[in-house]
Amino acid sequence: MSEMYIKHADKYAKVVKDNIYNACLERPSTLALLDDVTDKNVVDMGCGTGIYAKWFIEHSVKQLTCVDLSSEMVDIVNREFGSAVKSYAQDVSLGLPAEQDNSADIIICPLVLHYVEDLKPVFNDVQRVLKKGGYMVFSTHHPFADFECTTSGNYFERETVQEEWDTIGTPVSVRFYRRSLSEIINAVTASGLVVSKLSEGDVDEKAKDICESTYIRLKNNPNFLFVRCERI
Ligand SMILES: C[S@@+](CC[C@H](N)C(=O)[O-])C[C@H]1O[C@@H](n2cnc3c(N)ncnc32)[C@H](O)[C@@H]1O
Repeated sequence: MSEMYIKHADKYAKVVKDNIYNACLERPSTLALLDDVTDKNVVDMGCGTGIYAKWFIEHSVKQLTCVDLSSEMVDIVNREFGSAVKSYAQDVSLGLPAEQDNSADIIICPLVLHYVEDLKPVFNDVQRVLKKGGYMVFSTHHPFADFECTTSGNYFERETVQEEWDTIGTPVSVRFYRRSLSEIINAVTASGLVVSKLSEGDVDEKAKDICESTYIRLKNNPNFLFVRCERI
């Protein structure tokens, strides 16, 4: 896993509060796919610094479970929210083995799945953990945007991409998987979940005041993909 989410976890926590990609694009677009969350049992897969946890607590969920591969991220969530949240380290590429069948109303998984090689076990386990009528919302890199990083030139081939990101103000190496739209959607539907909403994001006008050229690029080009899928 990238040092970004281990060694630099505290810096990452500060930056994502009000940056363009997370605060002005990813979070509003993910939250737009949720219904009222009051009194719901929610699982946050790949919770990071707990920025969604804060939102869920403020919106009166019944029970919130936060999991992340990085124990540094889990520590931040524990520090911030204590017993208001059940949090533990979990590699979500194995699903949610500690969670009961039919126990969650909502599962979210923002910006995590591009770090997972095989998506099928993830969605199979989400399907098991969701109650009937429950749903999952996830966001991931947009396949069109990531195709710029291809080395094979074959859109349909899954590839590992290594990049340096300036998210925290200094370059940090990040490795993720680039894959086709059909690979993502087929993993969802193979689990029995049904895709009910799909969005390519909508950057908030606030981004204009942070960096106008990035705002214009995000207004005109897809960067992330947002999917809601239901257990019927
Ligand atoms: C881009 S951050 C997103 C964090 C949070 N979901 C948010 O939107 O603020 C990606 C997170 O995924 C976590 N992660 C990466 N691979 C994971 C895995 N296999 N299982 C669980 N978490 C993982 C990282 O530790 C990091 O906290």
